[in-house]
Amino acid sequence: MTRHFIDLSAVSAADLRFMLDDARARKARLKAGEREKPFEGKVLAMIFDKPSTRTRVSFDVAMRQLGGETIMLTGAEMQLGRSETIADTAKVLSRYVDAIMIRTTAHARLLELAENATVPVINGLTDDTHPCQIMADIMTYEEHRGSVKDKLFAWSGDGNNVLHSFMEASARFGFRLNIAVPVGSEPQAHYLEWAKANGGRVTLMHDPQEAVRDADCVVTDTWVSMGQEHRARGHNVFQPYQVNEKLMSLAKKDALFMHCLPAHRGEEVTDAVIDGPHSVVFDEAENRLHAQKAVLAWCLGS
Ligand code: CP
Ligand code: NVA
Repeated sequence: MTRHFIDLSAVSAADLRFMLDDARARKARLKAGEREKPFEGKVLAMIFDKPSTRTRVSFDVAMRQLGGETIMLTGAEMQLGRSETIADTAKVLSRYVDAIMIRTTAHARLLELAENATVPVINGLTDDTHPCQIMADIMTYEEHRGSVKDKLFAWSGDGNNVLHSFMEASARFGFRLNIAVPVGSEPQAHYLEWAKANGGRVTLMHDPQEAVRDADCVVTDTWVSMGQEHRARGHNVFQPYQVNEKLMSLAKKDALFMHCLPAHRGEEVTDAVIDGPHSVVFDEAENRLHAQKAVLAWCLGS
C-alpha cells in the first residue's frame, strides 16, 4: 500500500513516534558528519500553490542531503493551472517521480491527488492542516524538555490550519491543549470532535490568559493565513491574543514559545517574546529538515 503523509489523524501514533525517533537519529548522524544516501535515484516533485520558504527549502535540502533530487513546480505554471484535473496530474506525475509534496488551498485537492497517485503524497500545508510543521514542533519540544506526554500546550490566536494539526497531535502524542481564539475564529468543529474522540484533551476557550496559565508551551501563528484574507478580521479582535511578555509571564517559568514562522512581529507576537529566552522558533525551523527526512523515509520505505 502507498504510504501517504496526509494528516496526523491518518497515521498511527506508533508510526509517528517511529518517525520522530528516526528524525532525531538522522539529525545526530548529520551533526556527526555522517553522510548517507538512501534516496539515491529518487525524485520528489513539489507543487506549490502558495508561497513558502521553510517547506520549500527544507524538503529540497532533505532530498539532496540523502542523495535524491527534487523538481519544483507551481500550480500556475503547470497544466493544472489551465484546468487539467488533479486526478490526471496525479496519474501522470506517478509515472515519473517517486513522491509528491503539495502545498495547496482546499484540503480536497490534496486528498484527490493522494487518491489518484500511485506514489506517496505529502501534505506541505493546506487551508486545513500543516502536519509536517507539527512533527518538527514536537521534535523541538522533546529536544528541549523531554516527552510532551501530559504537558500543557496553549494556543492563542486564530483557529487555523496549524492549530488543526496541533489538535490532532494532542491525541496522537498525549499532551493537553488549551485553545484561546476570538469568537468567530474557532477551529473547525470536526477537528475538535476527532481529537476528543481519540483521547485528545483539548479545551476550547476565548480567554488567552486562562489558556496560557501554567502552560509548558505557548504557541501562536499569523492572524491572517495565506489565502484566508477574505476572512481576515480587524486586528483589534486579535489584539488580546498577542503573545507578549505579559501573557507569556502567566505560563510556567521555563515554558517554551513556538511559532511556525513566518511571524508578523508586533502582531501575533512581540519582538521581546520571539527573540526572548522562551523562544525556540529557529529550532522549529531547523527541525523541519530533520523531521521531513523521516517522513520521506517512511513514505519511500528507505
Ligand atoms: N512554517 C512554514 O511552513 O513556513 P513556509 O511557509 O515558509 O514554508
Ligand atoms: N497559518 C499559516 C501558516 C504558514 C506556514 C498560513 O497558512 O499562512
